[in-house]
Amino acid sequence: MNSTQIDTGNAPDSLAGRILVTGFAATVAMWVVSFVTHLPGIDLSPALAGPIVLAALFVVAFMQGRRTPSVSKAVQLGLGGGLLAGLVTLLILGSYLVETPAGDAPAPGAEGLKPGATIAALGFIGACGVLGLIGAIIGRAAAHSPHPPRNPLAAFAIVACFSVVPLIVVGGAVTSTGSGMAVKGWPDSYGANMFLYPISLMNNPHIYLEHTHRLFGSLVGLTTLVLMIWVLAKEPRKWVKYWAVALFVLVVVQGVLGGLRVNNVSRGLALGHGVLAQVFFCLLVAHAAHLSSIYRNAVASWAGEKDRKIKGITTGLVHATFLQLILGAAYRHLDQMHALWTHAGFSLVVAVMAMIAGFMLRARPATDPAISRWTHSLGTALLAVVVAQFVMGWIALFAIMTGGGRGEPVMYDQLGSAPAIDVLKALIATAHQANGALLFALATLAMIFARRLVAVRDAAPSA
Ligand code: HEM
Repeated sequence: MNSTQIDTGNAPDSLAGRILVTGFAATVAMWVVSFVTHLPGIDLSPALAGPIVLAALFVVAFMQGRRTPSVSKAVQLGLGGGLLAGLVTLLILGSYLVETPAGDAPAPGAEGLKPGATIAALGFIGACGVLGLIGAIIGRAAAHSPHPPRNPLAAFAIVACFSVVPLIVVGGAVTSTGSGMAVKGWPDSYGANMFLYPISLMNNPHIYLEHTHRLFGSLVGLTTLVLMIWVLAKEPRKWVKYWAVALFVLVVVQGVLGGLRVNNVSRGLALGHGVLAQVFFCLLVAHAAHLSSIYRNAVASWAGEKDRKIKGITTGLVHATFLQLILGAAYRHLDQMHALWTHAGFSLVVAVMAMIAGFMLRARPATDPAISRWTHSLGTALLAVVVAQFVMGWIALFAIMTGGGRGEPVMYDQLGSAPAIDVLKALIATAHQANGALLFALATLAMIFARRLVAVRDAAPSA
């Protein structure tokens, strides 16, 4: 099979599959926009933030509508995807549907639901359905020709990867701002159901970051669960099914680890939680690669002479980046200065390996046009990300040397006397941490494909 053809072997194109992809993609987009528009310091009014959040849904429905084969399919896809996104987004809408407790009274949870909360929730889901429908119809009308069929399971795995990105960024911001202990209790938030913790009580940036981190975590858990069920139902390869189950187990372990970190005030568990987050991300990226058409349909003629070397260097890079992550996390969570200096020194090894891998991927002989375009882009991305990572690392180090370390996270009962957050420093540290996760994921992706190409070449009967 030519790499430009799309094989839908493990999950044939279906409307239900496309609705799942659209619904979850729109949910991730809406949650990210909602997070940004409500950040303390930005905090737009609901009248302004609401339409911007819904616009994100519209854009996703529009893009998915462009890929539908007919207007009637666009109607069903837009409506179904919109309703699904609205339903899942109830997990964050709940914060708006509860009364603010008077004075220092604890958050009321379900007891405090505003009158008319059910109508508001249903109205919101309906509005999402209508907007999705309009977006998909306009998208269909704007498309010159319908796109070829897709493998919705592979597309859903990519959406799952994107759902982890905001979780990693917000989790990094929690560490960078010392907010890990800002919300009392787990799985409750200050005694209330976490999905009904009033937004009006999240004015403090420490609480906002820690609480939204928990909400993004629940979205990733739900997405991983749906992915696992889908893979178990449709994927023929046994080992890929085990991988999906392992990912779900890992995401549950990760959530429990985060909770134990809070309940036991443990910085060691915070370190484990921070490292496991990136390992989970890379395993999910690898899973998405395994489900992709390119991986499944790889043929010996796609492999080039240099692929065995690329396999070696990318495998080394993945391990080196993992070690670099542990060193960075040891500084961030345990204030270990010797870990930081080792991290700075070892960055040379990571940077050199990433650059060699990047240049080798770019210079691969053009065995197949589509594969070569893909490996070329992967090489370029590796180069860009590692250079940015190196530069940001030095800036982050400079910020520490001139402004002092981070110290202990702020406890939930000391928020009032906590020093103001150094926003610039937190931004640099978070960008470096999140970009590190991206480098780790790109290295994993490159390694998975290089190993696959070498494997199909080795398995092919010699001419
Ligand atoms: C080039 C490869 C590099 C990678 C993959 C990398 C990765 C990371 C990661 C993942 C973290 C956060 C760990 C966590 O908490 O989860 C981190 C933190 C850090 N890294 Fe790097 N890093 C690299 C290069 C550098 C360089 C060149 C420097 C400076 C010389 C540096 C300085 C730092 C500092 C100062 C922190 C802590 C930031 C803070 O929280 O204030 N890194 N690194």
